[in-house]
Amino acid sequence: GITRHYKFDVKLHNVTRLCHTRSIVSVNGQFPGPRIVAREGDQLLIKVVNHVPNNVSIHWHGIRQLRSGWADGPAYVTQCPIQTGQSYVYNFTIVGQRGTLFWHAHISWLRATLYGPIVILPKRGVPYPFAKPYKGVPIVFGEWFNADPEAVISQALQTGGGPNVSDAYTINGLPGPLYNCSAKDTFKLKVKPGKTYLLRLINAALNDELFFSIANHTLTVVDVDAIYVKPFETETLLITPGQTTNVILKTKPSYPNATFFMTARPYVTGQGTFDNSTVAGILEYESPPKSLHLSKMFPLFKPILPALNDTSFATNFASKLRSLASAQYPANVPQKVDKHFFFTVGLGTSPCQHNQTCQGPNGTKFAASVNNVSFTMPTTALLQAHFFGQSNGVYTPDFPSSPTIPFNYTGTPPNNTMVINGTKVVVLPFNTSVELVMQDTNILGAESHPLHLHGFNFFVVGQGFGNFDPNKDPAKFNLVDPIERNTVGVPSGGWVAIRFLADNPGVWFMHCHLEVHTSWGLKMAWIVLNGELPTQKLLPPPADLPKC
Ligand code: C2O
Repeated sequence: GITRHYKFDVKLHNVTRLCHTRSIVSVNGQFPGPRIVAREGDQLLIKVVNHVPNNVSIHWHGIRQLRSGWADGPAYVTQCPIQTGQSYVYNFTIVGQRGTLFWHAHISWLRATLYGPIVILPKRGVPYPFAKPYKGVPIVFGEWFNADPEAVISQALQTGGGPNVSDAYTINGLPGPLYNCSAKDTFKLKVKPGKTYLLRLINAALNDELFFSIANHTLTVVDVDAIYVKPFETETLLITPGQTTNVILKTKPSYPNATFFMTARPYVTGQGTFDNSTVAGILEYESPPKSLHLSKMFPLFKPILPALNDTSFATNFASKLRSLASAQYPANVPQKVDKHFFFTVGLGTSPCQHNQTCQGPNGTKFAASVNNVSFTMPTTALLQAHFFGQSNGVYTPDFPSSPTIPFNYTGTPPNNTMVINGTKVVVLPFNTSVELVMQDTNILGAESHPLHLHGFNFFVVGQGFGNFDPNKDPAKFNLVDPIERNTVGVPSGGWVAIRFLADNPGVWFMHCHLEVHTSWGLKMAWIVLNGELPTQKLLPPPADLPKC
């Protein structure tokens, strides 16, 4: 591989959408941010310079960061944030990954405007396991807020209620013609007939899983989270925040007498966050040769998306995803398990201070937790504390490996919905083979949670509805060709089982990629200890690592 240099100047930039102009935090004055292009095996040196009043930190979502945890990016987990006027060079190498990932800010809600694609091409001379696409096109889903997203979340955390929802979903930063005052801000993909396009879909939205479809065109899924999958055709995709999916779009063999909408809208399983707005872009065939005399006013075809709460579509779609599991791309599914974990994920409440009334359930504040622990962010970075042996007063290694008081997770919720607070972590010896079952709880409603693990890909070996049954369900696990990824939807009212090998020393964040749930505490961290060999140890911290 080669070394590629990028410079990210984080600065304010005026953007107008839906007739509202806002000064947003941007990278290089671009919205969405710049695209990073590299090949598998390349080293990236990305210098991030902070020119804004906010503290900033950037995460390279899905990059494994083998031994390079200092470059992972979550603020107060692997680094202190980059303060105003300061800079930091993220230094990492892409190992064993090819496809699409993305980068985003990993502090507060700055990722609402600070995000962009990471395109990873195969090594030079190594073909795709499918016909070489004519062209690759990133399609990044996001959310536009007319208000400042930082104000939206800080107000919600103060009052204890749910944050205001965004004003539009976007494709490559553009809401499209179905919103008011937005027709000119429409993403248009111009294509030629009879070609294959590789669409690199990225869900960078803050708070919604999305369905996506292109009218009258079938899509072939070939890669998720930068891992090849067994190709399958579908009209519609489901993509959760934090997930990326490569699909092949075969354009029609001749010029169709029409243009086509591509649309996305939320898949909502929870209560109270219903939102029926739809972002639309346009798939347009480049002008046909004059001799074809097509009518000028092309009719517009619109795709049909599943109902907003179509859980059976979601489950079905998830079950179609299988890793290639070929000789060239083996699925190294851990067959033995050293350590079993069972985590409940869901909402809860926390007390309102000073005898005030809060706007959350029954006058409390909304909270969210893993095994009833709502994670408190430290004021220094966990990775530094771990590396320098200064954990005292920063974190405790007592994260529970299963719920302390089990209950019927999909039945009537317990009377006491209060979470406990703490900066608790799990400590794993190097190369521990982990099985983790995550169970959605019905506290304040069943809801699907896209759980994202930093530093690893994991295998999704099983999923189901109801309460996980440790006596029956493991017999049905797929240990042959399960999908390998970094973000998985824990189904609403159900569970998902994953396995991974803890072969990457460092501190690794795990959290719901619905930003509001992260803000409420649905997050925790794993510490993986160094192995014996020099190649099994975390690299030393870079000299310019930011200080708190
Ligand atoms: Cu994409 Cu911890 O995040």
